Amino acid sequence: MSSSAFNHYKYFLSKVYSWTLGDKADLFQKNAAWLMQNGITEGKLLDLGAGFGSHAIPAAELGLAVTAIDFSSELLNELKKFDPSSKVKTVESDFITFLRHHSENYDYVLCLGDTLTDLASLEMLNDLFQSLVDQVSENGRLHLSWRDYQTIPFMDSERFYIIKQDEKSIMTCVLEDENAKMITATDVLHTKIGNEFKVSGHSYQKLKLTPELVSDLLIKADFDVIKTKVQGRIVELVASKN
Ligand SMILES: C[S@@+](CC[C@H](N)C(=O)[O-])C[C@H]1O[C@@H](n2cnc3c(N)ncnc32)[C@H](O)[C@@H]1O
Repeated sequence: MSSSAFNHYKYFLSKVYSWTLGDKADLFQKNAAWLMQNGITEGKLLDLGAGFGSHAIPAAELGLAVTAIDFSSELLNELKKFDPSSKVKTVESDFITFLRHHSENYDYVLCLGDTLTDLASLEMLNDLFQSLVDQVSENGRLHLSWRDYQTIPFMDSERFYIIKQDEKSIMTCVLEDENAKMITATDVLHTKIGNEFKVSGHSYQKLKLTPELVSDLLIKADFDVIKTKVQGRIVELVASKN
């Protein structure tokens, strides 16, 4: 049985998420380079679904004033460990709820790393963009990245892929087509203890989001889509205020 993204992170993924992304020093360095390439070097930045701070921490180190929102207390606690001088302001909240009760102007808003597809419905995505448009400054930008589970249908063998492995553990993701709007993703973790493998896993539903669908909702909310880059299933999109 699949559950909400909140429960998926709470009961399963938050415990292993940072392990799946490998060496943190390399990751922070790579993401600092990405921020600089995108001209994100000063001003106020809001990171939606910041996780353990893979973008928030390098952004704060570059000198941006960073607010990181996440509904996972476990991942925000990890972020705080990587940020001992508390450069990043953290907010433990669902970001849609946060944006409904919050009014601020940000130079940059990030929602990266397949977080958008964690939303429960297209209505919530629409709500997100409608609330965000007033919180992006005149010359500000919204940066999104996610996996498109719709445009390239997954054939049988592509339904299974390894997310991360090392000498003790292997994590696999299994994708299943659920309906016209959603897929089910199941993360399965095998860990070797002594001579035996222990297995655990958890499923949740994710939205099917094509670049066209996301662009239409952005335009409806009065954003301009200024860049879309597609590499396989990974979509990167940049929008500004119209
Ligand atoms: C796939 S991770 C991406 C983390 C980070 N952005 C990155 O690129 O490494 C998704 C993150 O978004 C958080 N998240 C998903 N939906 C959320 C929501 N509606 N409100 C707050 N946090 C959310 C999860 O807890 C998780 O930390």
